[in-house]
Amino acid sequence: MLDKYPNFFLLFFDNIPYGSSVFSLGMGTSSLEVRLFRDLACQVKGIDFVKFNVEWARQRGLTAIEGNIHDELDRITEKFDIIVMSEVLGDLDAYAIFEQLRPLLKSEGKILLSTYLPHSHSRDETGYERRWTSSLNRILIAAGFAIVRKGVYKTAGERQATFLAFPQEVPNNEDVLDGYVFYEIRPT
Ligand SMILES: C[S@@+](CC[C@H](N)C(=O)[O-])C[C@H]1O[C@@H](n2cnc3c(N)ncnc32)[C@H](O)[C@@H]1O
Repeated sequence: MLDKYPNFFLLFFDNIPYGSSVFSLGMGTSSLEVRLFRDLACQVKGIDFVKFNVEWARQRGLTAIEGNIHDELDRITEKFDIIVMSEVLGDLDAYAIFEQLRPLLKSEGKILLSTYLPHSHSRDETGYERRWTSSLNRILIAAGFAIVRKGVYKTAGERQATFLAFPQEVPNNEDVLDGYVFYEIRPT
C-alpha cells in the first residue's frame, strides 16, 4: 500500500499508529493529512492561516482551523496522540511553540517534525529562519521534550527522500546540503 507514496511521507506514516488522533500545524495542501485520514483511519485536525488551504482540507473531510498557529493553540482544549509539524517550524517562534504544544499531547503522545537543515537554504531569499540543529536540540530539551530519535534525509526532486538513516547526531557538513532533519520527540 504505502509504496505508492513518496518516501518523504513514510517518515510520518511509519511513526503514526492506525487510528491516531493527529493535529497538523501548517498543513498546506494536506497531501500527507488526507492519506493519514484515508488510509490510516486517523482523526485529523489541521491549522493553517491560508484560507484556501483550510477550505481545501475541509472539502477532503478533514477538520481545519483557519488562523495563526500561535494564537489558536491556546484555545484548543483537546489532546492528541500525534502532532505533525511538516516543514513549518521555520515559520514559527521555536522558543514558544513547544511550550504551547506540550499540553495538547496525550500522556503517550509525540510530535513528529521535519524541517530544512539550516544551511540547506543558502540560496533562499524568502526569509526562512535558519536554525542549527544544535540550537533546536537545546530548545526542545528546555521545553521539556526528550528526543526519541532524529535523522537526516536528502531529497531528490519533489518529496523523494533518498536517505532515511537515523544517526545519533545530525552532522553539520557538506554531506547533508539540501537535506532535511526529522525528529520524533516526547514530553519528558
Ligand atoms: C512550507 S508549508 C508546509 C506545508 C505542509 N505541512 C507540507 O509539509 O507540505 C508551511 C505551511 O504552514 C502555514 N503557516 C506558516 N506559518 C503559519 C502560522 N503562523 N499560522 C498558521 N499557518 C502557518 C503556511 O500557510 C503553509 O501552508
